[in-house]
Amino acid sequence: MQSGRPAQRAVSASIEKRPAPEAPQSKKFTRWATWASLIVVFALVCRVLDTIKDRWYIMTPPFLHELAKDAVATYPDDTANIINHIVTNLTATYGTKHINPRQDEWVFNNAGGAMGAMYVIHASITEYLIIFGTPLGTEGHTGRHTADDYFHILEGEQWAYAPPSLKKEVYGPGSVHHLRRGTVKQYKMHENCFALEYARGWIPLMLPFGFADSLSSTLDFPTLWDTVYITGREMIRNLMFGKI
Ligand SMILES: *[C@@H]1O[C@H](CO)[C@@H](O)[C@H](O)[C@H]1NC(C)=O
Repeated sequence: MQSGRPAQRAVSASIEKRPAPEAPQSKKFTRWATWASLIVVFALVCRVLDTIKDRWYIMTPPFLHELAKDAVATYPDDTANIINHIVTNLTATYGTKHINPRQDEWVFNNAGGAMGAMYVIHASITEYLIIFGTPLGTEGHTGRHTADDYFHILEGEQWAYAPPSLKKEVYGPGSVHHLRRGTVKQYKMHENCFALEYARGWIPLMLPFGFADSLSSTLDFPTLWDTVYITGREMIRNLMFGKI
């Protein structure tokens, strides 16, 4: 190692002796300026898109809450009929262009340490609507998302916790737990809990959270494939009908 040092010094000394070329210096500056401008433009485009994203929503939280309450009141503790009631109404309201009517298309979902199964009713760039739940109960991290999340309880109870409060929040059938964009909680779906989950915001940015547990823990690639396939199919189908 020591024998290498004089040689290194000789090389750097010969570099120092060379007159500083001016052209590469300004080229370097141009490159940095270009990158900086691109980043600023990208940030501005993101900001503008974020302020106008509301125009692409087709569903509204008050309507979905009404529908969930109506379904829960008509079929108490009967999740299969609750789901059928909701999907029949949504298909009549929005058409099959935007609604996936395959009520048996369930996939397991592992995210934030929690596990359940889901049925994707709608997925597009700015909205998704799923049924999520498990008869066994599960617990985990909500994830910190770029979308507002409305969790309508259909059966059972969801508990949530966020300090500095030291008490659990309890959500029962017919109620809705609104997790604001950018905020996180610990949550638990107690036994026999199913919910209609509606998210509005930037959905593709939520997907890494949905895939991370499969890639780092379960390694259940067939489930991961089904999830990507169904979500992609619905997003592209909506895009083809002009729904972003
Ligand atoms: C869907 O549900 C809403 C809320 O309960 C209700 O007002 C509306 O009439 C229903 N639409 C159809 C087509 O059943």
